[in-house]
Amino acid sequence: MARFPIAEFKDLGTPFYFYDLALLDRTLAEIKRTSRDERFKVHYAVKANANPGILRRIQAAGLGIDAVSGGEIAAAIEAGFRGSQIVYAGVGKTDAEIELAIRNGVSCFNVESAPELEIIDEIAGRMRKKANIALRVNPNIDAHTHEYITTGLAENKFGINLGQLPDMIRLAQELEHVNLSGLHFHIGSQITETEPFIMLCETINKLQEQYAENGITFKTINVGGGLGIDYADPDRHPIPDFENYFKVFRNHLHLRADQELHFELGRSVVAQCGSLITRVLYVKEGESKRFAIVDAGMTDLIRPALYNAHHRIENISSPNGELHHYDVVGPICESSDCFGKDELLPSIRRGDFLALRSAGAYGEIMASHYNCRQLPGSYFFEK
Ligand code: LLP
Repeated sequence: MARFPIAEFKDLGTPFYFYDLALLDRTLAEIKRTSRDERFKVHYAVKANANPGILRRIQAAGLGIDAVSGGEIAAAIEAGFRGSQIVYAGVGKTDAEIELAIRNGVSCFNVESAPELEIIDEIAGRMRKKANIALRVNPNIDAHTHEYITTGLAENKFGINLGQLPDMIRLAQELEHVNLSGLHFHIGSQITETEPFIMLCETINKLQEQYAENGITFKTINVGGGLGIDYADPDRHPIPDFENYFKVFRNHLHLRADQELHFELGRSVVAQCGSLITRVLYVKEGESKRFAIVDAGMTDLIRPALYNAHHRIENISSPNGELHHYDVVGPICESSDCFGKDELLPSIRRGDFLALRSAGAYGEIMASHYNCRQLPGSYFFEK
Protein backbone atom coordinates (compact mmCIF):
# COMPACT_ATOMS: atom_id res chain seq x y z
CA MET A 1 0.00 0.00 0.00
CA ALA A 2 1.22 3.51 -0.80
CA ARG A 3 2.21 5.68 2.13
CA PHE A 4 -0.17 8.45 3.11
CA PRO A 5 0.59 11.05 5.82
CA ILE A 6 -2.74 10.43 7.57
CA ALA A 7 -1.90 12.55 10.62
CA GLU A 8 -1.86 15.55 8.29
CA PHE A 9 -5.26 14.68 6.81
CA LYS A 10 -7.13 15.14 10.12
CA ASP A 11 -7.54 18.89 9.73
CA LEU A 12 -8.23 18.92 6.00
CA GLY A 13 -11.66 19.13 4.45
CA THR A 14 -12.53 16.02 2.45
CA PRO A 15 -12.77 14.91 -0.28
CA PHE A 16 -9.50 16.07 -1.81
CA TYR A 17 -6.99 14.91 -4.38
CA PHE A 18 -3.69 13.74 -2.95
CA TYR A 19 -0.74 14.07 -5.33
CA ASP A 20 2.54 12.26 -4.72
CA LEU A 21 4.96 14.66 -6.43
CA ALA A 22 7.96 12.39 -5.85
CA LEU A 23 6.22 9.69 -7.89
CA LEU A 24 5.32 12.24 -10.57
CA ASP A 25 8.98 13.27 -10.74
CA ARG A 26 10.14 9.67 -11.02
CA THR A 27 7.59 9.09 -13.78
CA LEU A 28 8.80 12.15 -15.67
CA ALA A 29 12.43 11.04 -15.26
CA GLU A 30 11.51 7.62 -16.67
CA ILE A 31 9.80 9.24 -19.67
CA LYS A 32 12.93 11.29 -20.27
CA ARG A 33 15.19 8.26 -19.96
CA THR A 34 13.17 5.99 -22.25
CA SER A 35 12.30 8.57 -24.93
CA ARG A 36 15.87 9.78 -25.25
CA ASP A 37 15.93 9.58 -29.07
CA GLU A 38 16.58 13.12 -30.29
CA ARG A 39 13.75 12.92 -32.77
CA PHE A 40 11.17 11.96 -30.09
CA LYS A 41 9.20 14.76 -28.50
CA VAL A 42 6.68 14.13 -25.73
CA HIS A 43 3.75 16.49 -25.23
CA TYR A 44 1.68 16.16 -22.07
CA ALA A 45 -2.08 15.99 -22.76
CA VAL A 46 -3.41 18.66 -20.37
CA LYS A 47 -6.90 17.21 -20.51
CA ALA A 48 -5.76 14.52 -18.06
CA ASN A 49 -5.01 17.00 -15.29
CA ALA A 50 -4.61 20.78 -15.41
CA ASN A 51 -3.91 21.40 -11.72
CA PRO A 52 -1.29 24.22 -11.75
CA GLY A 53 0.92 22.36 -9.24
CA ILE A 54 1.06 19.38 -11.60
CA LEU A 55 1.52 21.49 -14.75
CA ARG A 56 4.47 23.39 -13.27
CA ARG A 57 6.20 20.11 -12.42
CA ILE A 58 5.70 18.83 -15.96
CA GLN A 59 6.95 22.14 -17.36
CA ALA A 60 10.10 21.89 -15.25
CA ALA A 61 10.73 18.41 -16.68
CA GLY A 62 10.79 19.85 -20.20
CA LEU A 63 7.75 18.18 -21.79
CA GLY A 64 5.62 20.03 -24.34
CA ILE A 65 1.83 20.43 -24.24
CA ASP A 66 -1.10 18.95 -26.14
CA ALA A 67 -4.06 21.31 -25.62
CA VAL A 68 -7.65 20.87 -26.81
CA SER A 69 -9.18 24.24 -25.91
CA GLY A 70 -8.35 27.88 -25.40
CA GLY A 71 -8.68 27.25 -21.67
CA GLU A 72 -5.99 24.56 -21.80
CA ILE A 73 -3.68 26.82 -23.83
CA ALA A 74 -4.15 29.55 -21.20
CA ALA A 75 -3.52 27.10 -18.34
CA ALA A 76 -0.30 25.93 -20.00
CA ILE A 77 0.97 29.47 -20.63
CA GLU A 78 0.11 30.37 -17.02
CA ALA A 79 2.20 27.38 -15.84
CA GLY A 80 5.22 28.66 -17.79
CA PHE A 81 5.03 26.82 -21.10
CA ARG A 82 5.87 28.77 -24.25
CA GLY A 83 3.43 28.84 -27.17
CA SER A 84 6.04 27.12 -29.30
CA GLN A 85 5.86 24.08 -26.99
CA ILE A 86 2.11 23.67 -27.52
CA VAL A 87 0.21 21.67 -30.12
CA TYR A 88 -3.50 22.41 -30.38
CA ALA A 89 -6.06 19.72 -31.27
CA GLY A 90 -9.84 19.28 -31.14
CA VAL A 91 -12.76 18.74 -33.53
CA GLY A 92 -14.54 21.98 -32.63
CA LYS A 93 -12.15 24.91 -32.36
CA THR A 94 -13.97 28.26 -32.11
CA ASP A 95 -12.76 31.36 -33.98
CA ALA A 96 -11.75 32.96 -30.67
CA GLU A 97 -9.73 29.89 -29.72
CA ILE A 98 -7.98 29.82 -33.10
CA GLU A 99 -7.06 33.50 -32.69
CA LEU A 100 -5.78 32.90 -29.17
CA ALA A 101 -3.65 30.00 -30.40
CA ILE A 102 -2.16 32.05 -33.24
CA ARG A 103 -1.53 35.02 -30.94
CA ASN A 104 0.37 32.75 -28.56
CA GLY A 105 2.37 31.19 -31.38
CA VAL A 106 1.33 27.56 -30.88
CA SER A 107 3.63 25.28 -32.83
CA CYS A 108 0.93 23.30 -34.64
CA PHE A 109 -2.83 22.96 -35.15
CA ASN A 110 -4.02 19.38 -35.42
CA VAL A 111 -6.80 19.79 -37.98
CA GLU A 112 -9.80 17.48 -38.18
CA SER A 113 -11.91 18.69 -41.14
CA ALA A 114 -11.88 20.74 -44.36
CA PRO A 115 -14.07 23.60 -43.06
CA GLU A 116 -11.83 23.90 -39.99
CA LEU A 117 -8.75 24.12 -42.22
CA GLU A 118 -10.35 26.89 -44.27
CA ILE A 119 -11.24 28.90 -41.15
CA ILE A 120 -7.71 28.56 -39.73
CA ASP A 121 -6.36 29.80 -43.08
CA GLU A 122 -8.78 32.74 -43.09
CA ILE A 123 -8.02 33.79 -39.51
CA ALA A 124 -4.25 33.38 -39.96
CA GLY A 125 -4.48 35.52 -43.13
CA ARG A 126 -6.37 38.23 -41.28
CA MET A 127 -3.67 38.18 -38.57
CA ARG A 128 -0.91 38.21 -41.21
CA LYS A 129 0.49 34.92 -39.95
CA LYS A 130 1.10 31.48 -41.36
CA ALA A 131 -0.18 28.62 -39.19
CA ASN A 132 1.59 25.26 -39.01
CA ILE A 133 -0.89 22.46 -39.32
CA ALA A 134 -0.96 18.68 -39.09
CA LEU A 135 -3.85 16.67 -40.48
CA ARG A 136 -5.44 14.31 -37.98
CA VAL A 137 -5.93 11.01 -39.73
CA ASN A 138 -8.47 8.45 -38.58
CA PRO A 139 -6.60 5.19 -39.25
CA ASN A 140 -9.58 2.88 -38.53
CA ILE A 141 -7.76 0.81 -35.91
CA ASP A 142 -9.54 -0.89 -33.01
CA ALA A 143 -7.72 0.02 -29.79
CA HIS A 144 -9.59 -2.64 -27.77
CA THR A 145 -10.60 -0.21 -25.08
CA HIS A 146 -13.86 1.20 -23.69
CA GLU A 147 -16.19 2.40 -26.48
CA TYR A 148 -16.35 5.91 -25.00
CA ILE A 149 -12.58 6.33 -25.21
CA THR A 150 -11.81 4.66 -28.52
CA THR A 151 -11.27 7.31 -31.14
CA GLY A 152 -9.54 5.79 -34.15
CA LEU A 153 -12.44 3.92 -35.77
CA ALA A 154 -14.09 5.21 -38.96
CA GLU A 155 -17.40 5.56 -37.10
CA ASN A 156 -15.90 8.03 -34.55
CA LYS A 157 -16.22 11.78 -35.06
CA PHE A 158 -12.45 12.24 -34.91
CA GLY A 159 -10.00 12.83 -37.71
CA ILE A 160 -10.04 12.58 -41.47
CA ASN A 161 -10.84 9.21 -43.02
CA LEU A 162 -8.06 7.67 -45.11
CA GLY A 163 -10.12 7.99 -48.31
CA GLN A 164 -10.52 11.74 -47.84
CA LEU A 165 -6.89 12.40 -46.99
CA PRO A 166 -5.60 13.12 -50.54
CA ASP A 167 -8.17 15.91 -51.02
CA MET A 168 -7.29 17.37 -47.62
CA ILE A 169 -3.59 17.37 -48.43
CA ARG A 170 -4.30 19.12 -51.72
CA LEU A 171 -6.42 21.73 -49.95
CA ALA A 172 -3.72 22.33 -47.31
CA GLN A 173 -1.14 22.83 -50.07
CA GLU A 174 -3.35 25.30 -51.91
CA LEU A 175 -4.21 27.52 -48.96
CA GLU A 176 -1.83 30.43 -48.49
CA HIS A 177 -1.80 30.95 -44.75
CA VAL A 178 -1.25 27.40 -43.57
CA ASN A 179 1.82 25.26 -43.78
CA LEU A 180 1.27 21.50 -43.87
CA SER A 181 3.90 20.11 -41.53
CA GLY A 182 2.65 16.75 -40.38
CA LEU A 183 0.22 13.94 -39.84
CA HIS A 184 -1.47 13.31 -36.51
CA PHE A 185 -3.02 10.10 -35.15
CA HIS A 186 -4.64 9.03 -31.89
CA ILE A 187 -6.41 5.69 -31.65
CA GLY A 188 -7.79 5.72 -28.11
CA SER A 189 -6.97 5.75 -24.43
CA GLN A 190 -6.13 3.20 -21.70
CA ILE A 191 -4.58 0.87 -24.29
CA THR A 192 -2.93 -2.02 -22.48
CA GLU A 193 -1.83 -4.12 -25.44
CA THR A 194 1.10 -3.50 -27.75
CA GLU A 195 -0.64 -4.69 -30.90
CA PRO A 196 -2.81 -1.61 -31.65
CA PHE A 197 0.32 0.58 -31.49
CA ILE A 198 2.16 -1.78 -33.86
CA MET A 199 -0.81 -1.63 -36.26
CA LEU A 200 -0.70 2.16 -36.04
CA CYS A 201 3.01 2.12 -36.99
CA GLU A 202 2.29 -0.12 -39.97
CA THR A 203 -0.52 2.13 -41.20
CA ILE A 204 1.75 5.16 -40.91
CA ASN A 205 4.58 3.40 -42.76
CA LYS A 206 2.24 2.56 -45.64
CA LEU A 207 0.89 6.09 -45.82
CA GLN A 208 4.35 7.62 -45.74
CA GLU A 209 5.60 5.37 -48.54
CA GLN A 210 2.55 6.14 -50.64
CA TYR A 211 2.97 9.89 -50.26
CA ALA A 212 6.75 9.84 -50.67
CA GLU A 213 6.19 8.30 -54.11
CA ASN A 214 4.24 11.45 -54.97
CA GLY A 215 6.92 13.69 -53.55
CA ILE A 216 5.04 14.54 -50.35
CA THR A 217 6.88 14.24 -47.05
CA PHE A 218 6.00 15.37 -43.56
CA LYS A 219 8.20 17.08 -41.00
CA THR A 220 6.36 15.58 -38.04
CA ILE A 221 4.47 12.42 -37.27
CA ASN A 222 2.32 12.61 -34.15
CA VAL A 223 1.08 9.29 -32.76
CA GLY A 224 -1.13 10.74 -30.00
CA GLY A 225 -1.38 9.16 -26.56
CA GLY A 226 -3.18 6.18 -25.15
CA LEU A 227 -0.69 4.20 -23.09
CA GLY A 228 -2.69 2.46 -20.36
CA ILE A 229 -1.92 2.05 -16.65
CA ASP A 230 -2.47 -0.67 -14.04
CA TYR A 231 -5.68 0.28 -12.19
CA ALA A 232 -5.90 -3.11 -10.45
CA ASP A 233 -2.49 -2.98 -8.78
CA PRO A 234 -1.01 0.53 -8.77
CA ASP A 235 1.70 -0.37 -6.25
CA ARG A 236 3.06 -3.11 -8.50
CA HIS A 237 3.16 -0.76 -11.50
CA PRO A 238 3.42 2.79 -10.17
CA ILE A 239 5.23 3.79 -13.38
CA PRO A 240 3.90 2.51 -16.73
CA ASP A 241 6.15 0.54 -19.05
CA PHE A 242 7.46 3.49 -21.08
CA GLU A 243 10.52 1.49 -22.12
CA ASN A 244 8.40 -0.97 -24.08
CA TYR A 245 6.05 1.74 -25.37
CA PHE A 246 8.79 3.85 -26.96
CA LYS A 247 10.57 0.70 -28.15
CA VAL A 248 7.48 -0.25 -30.21
CA PHE A 249 7.75 3.00 -32.15
CA ARG A 250 11.54 2.79 -32.38
CA ASN A 251 11.28 -0.73 -33.83
CA HIS A 252 8.18 -0.49 -36.00
CA LEU A 253 7.90 3.05 -37.30
CA HIS A 254 10.08 3.99 -40.26
CA LEU A 255 11.03 7.55 -39.43
CA ARG A 256 12.96 9.57 -41.98
CA ALA A 257 16.24 11.05 -40.77
CA ASP A 258 14.91 14.60 -40.62
CA GLN A 259 11.54 13.70 -39.15
CA GLU A 260 10.28 14.32 -35.61
CA LEU A 261 8.03 11.86 -33.80
CA HIS A 262 5.57 13.42 -31.38
CA PHE A 263 3.70 11.72 -28.55
CA GLU A 264 0.75 13.08 -26.56
CA LEU A 265 0.67 11.21 -23.27
CA GLY A 266 -1.87 12.08 -20.60
CA ARG A 267 -3.02 9.26 -18.36
CA SER A 268 0.32 7.44 -18.20
CA VAL A 269 2.04 10.61 -16.92
CA VAL A 270 -0.27 11.56 -14.05
CA ALA A 271 -2.73 8.77 -13.17
CA GLN A 272 -0.69 6.87 -10.59
CA CYS A 273 0.52 9.89 -8.63
CA GLY A 274 -3.02 10.88 -7.63
CA SER A 275 -5.55 9.42 -5.16
CA LEU A 276 -8.92 10.77 -4.15
CA ILE A 277 -9.08 10.85 -0.35
CA THR A 278 -12.54 10.61 1.17
CA ARG A 279 -13.94 10.24 4.68
CA VAL A 280 -16.51 7.62 5.65
CA LEU A 281 -19.74 9.28 6.78
CA TYR A 282 -21.81 6.25 7.69
CA VAL A 283 -21.67 2.49 7.67
CA LYS A 284 -25.19 1.38 6.81
CA GLU A 285 -26.33 -2.18 7.35
CA GLY A 286 -28.79 -3.11 4.60
CA GLU A 287 -30.75 -6.38 4.56
CA SER A 288 -28.26 -8.15 2.35
CA LYS A 289 -25.51 -5.56 1.98
CA ARG A 290 -23.29 -3.36 4.03
CA PHE A 291 -22.72 0.12 2.62
CA ALA A 292 -19.82 2.44 3.33
CA ILE A 293 -21.23 5.86 2.54
CA VAL A 294 -18.38 8.27 1.84
CA ASP A 295 -18.24 12.04 1.36
CA ALA A 296 -16.81 11.82 -2.19
CA GLY A 297 -19.19 11.19 -5.05
CA MET A 298 -19.36 10.98 -8.80
CA THR A 299 -18.99 14.77 -8.84
CA ASP A 300 -15.42 14.31 -7.56
CA LEU A 301 -14.49 11.24 -9.61
CA ILE A 302 -16.89 10.42 -12.44
CA ARG A 303 -14.97 7.59 -14.10
CA PRO A 304 -16.78 4.69 -12.31
CA ALA A 305 -20.22 6.17 -13.12
CA LEU A 306 -19.35 7.14 -16.69
CA TYR A 307 -17.16 4.28 -17.92
CA ASN A 308 -17.80 1.60 -15.35
CA ALA A 309 -14.15 2.09 -14.39
CA HIS A 310 -12.78 0.67 -11.18
CA HIS A 311 -10.32 2.49 -8.95
CA ARG A 312 -8.68 0.42 -6.24
CA ILE A 313 -10.14 1.33 -2.84
CA GLU A 314 -8.07 1.18 0.36
CA ASN A 315 -8.96 1.81 3.98
CA ILE A 316 -5.90 3.86 4.88
CA SER A 317 -7.03 4.62 8.45
CA SER A 318 -7.13 0.97 9.55
CA PRO A 319 -5.43 -1.17 6.92
CA ASN A 320 -5.11 -4.27 9.11
CA GLY A 321 -8.66 -4.85 10.37
CA GLU A 322 -10.81 -7.90 9.77
CA LEU A 323 -12.04 -8.11 6.18
CA HIS A 324 -15.70 -7.49 5.28
CA HIS A 325 -17.64 -6.84 2.09
CA TYR A 326 -18.87 -3.31 1.41
CA ASP A 327 -20.52 -1.38 -1.37
CA VAL A 328 -18.65 1.91 -1.32
CA VAL A 329 -21.07 4.64 -2.38
CA GLY A 330 -21.20 8.43 -2.52
CA PRO A 331 -23.87 10.89 -1.39
CA ILE A 332 -25.20 11.93 -4.83
CA CYS A 333 -28.80 11.22 -5.80
CA GLU A 334 -27.94 8.75 -8.58
CA SER A 335 -27.63 4.97 -8.35
CA SER A 336 -24.52 5.13 -10.51
CA ASP A 337 -22.82 7.07 -7.69
CA CYS A 338 -20.99 3.95 -6.59
CA PHE A 339 -17.21 3.42 -6.41
CA GLY A 340 -17.24 -0.33 -5.81
CA LYS A 341 -19.59 -3.24 -5.19
CA ASP A 342 -18.77 -6.05 -2.73
CA GLU A 343 -15.34 -4.61 -2.05
CA LEU A 344 -13.39 -6.73 0.42
CA LEU A 345 -11.98 -4.15 2.84
CA PRO A 346 -10.57 -3.99 6.36
CA SER A 347 -13.39 -3.18 8.78
CA ILE A 348 -14.64 0.36 8.15
CA ARG A 349 -15.81 2.83 10.81
CA ARG A 350 -17.28 6.30 10.58
CA GLY A 351 -14.47 8.83 10.14
CA ASP A 352 -12.03 6.44 8.42
CA PHE A 353 -10.17 7.77 5.39
CA LEU A 354 -10.43 5.77 2.19
CA ALA A 355 -8.13 6.26 -0.79
CA LEU A 356 -9.38 5.79 -4.35
CA ARG A 357 -6.17 5.06 -6.17
CA SER A 358 -4.90 5.86 -9.70
CA ALA A 359 -7.09 8.96 -9.85
CA GLY A 360 -4.50 11.51 -10.99
CA ALA A 361 -5.73 11.41 -14.59
CA TYR A 362 -9.27 12.40 -15.61
CA GLY A 363 -10.19 12.76 -11.93
CA GLU A 364 -9.99 16.29 -10.57
CA ILE A 365 -10.33 17.82 -14.03
CA MET A 366 -13.67 16.07 -14.68
CA ALA A 367 -15.19 17.12 -11.34
CA SER A 368 -18.51 18.98 -11.42
CA HIS A 369 -20.83 21.05 -9.24
CA TYR A 370 -23.79 18.70 -9.64
CA ASN A 371 -26.03 18.79 -6.55
CA CYS A 372 -24.45 22.23 -5.87
CA ARG A 373 -21.41 20.52 -4.42
CA GLN A 374 -18.03 22.18 -4.03
CA LEU A 375 -15.15 21.03 -6.18
CA PRO A 376 -12.59 18.82 -4.41
CA GLY A 377 -9.39 20.41 -3.12
CA SER A 378 -5.85 19.21 -3.72
CA TYR A 379 -2.93 18.32 -1.45
CA PHE A 380 0.67 17.92 -2.61
CA PHE A 381 3.00 15.47 -0.94
CA GLU A 382 6.71 16.04 -1.61
CA LYS A 383 8.60 13.34 0.30
N1 LLP B 1 -4.23 12.99 -27.84
C1 LLP B 1 -5.54 13.05 -28.22
C2 LLP B 1 -5.87 13.55 -29.53
C3 LLP B 1 -6.54 12.60 -27.32
O1 LLP B 1 -7.81 12.64 -27.70
C4 LLP B 1 -6.18 12.10 -26.04
C5 LLP B 1 -7.20 11.65 -25.09
C6 LLP B 1 -4.81 12.07 -25.69
C7 LLP B 1 -3.87 12.52 -26.63
C8 LLP B 1 -4.32 11.57 -24.37
O2 LLP B 1 -4.60 10.22 -24.21
P1 LLP B 1 -4.04 9.41 -22.94
O3 LLP B 1 -2.54 9.31 -23.05
O4 LLP B 1 -4.47 10.10 -21.71
O5 LLP B 1 -4.71 8.08 -23.09
N2 LLP B 1 -11.83 10.74 -19.80
C9 LLP B 1 -11.41 9.44 -20.27
C10 LLP B 1 -10.23 9.53 -21.22
C11 LLP B 1 -10.51 10.38 -22.44
C12 LLP B 1 -9.32 10.50 -23.36
C13 LLP B 1 -9.55 11.48 -24.43
N3 LLP B 1 -8.45 11.70 -25.32
C14 LLP B 1 -11.08 8.55 -19.07
O6 LLP B 1 -11.27 8.99 -17.94
O7 LLP B 1 -10.71 7.38 -19.22
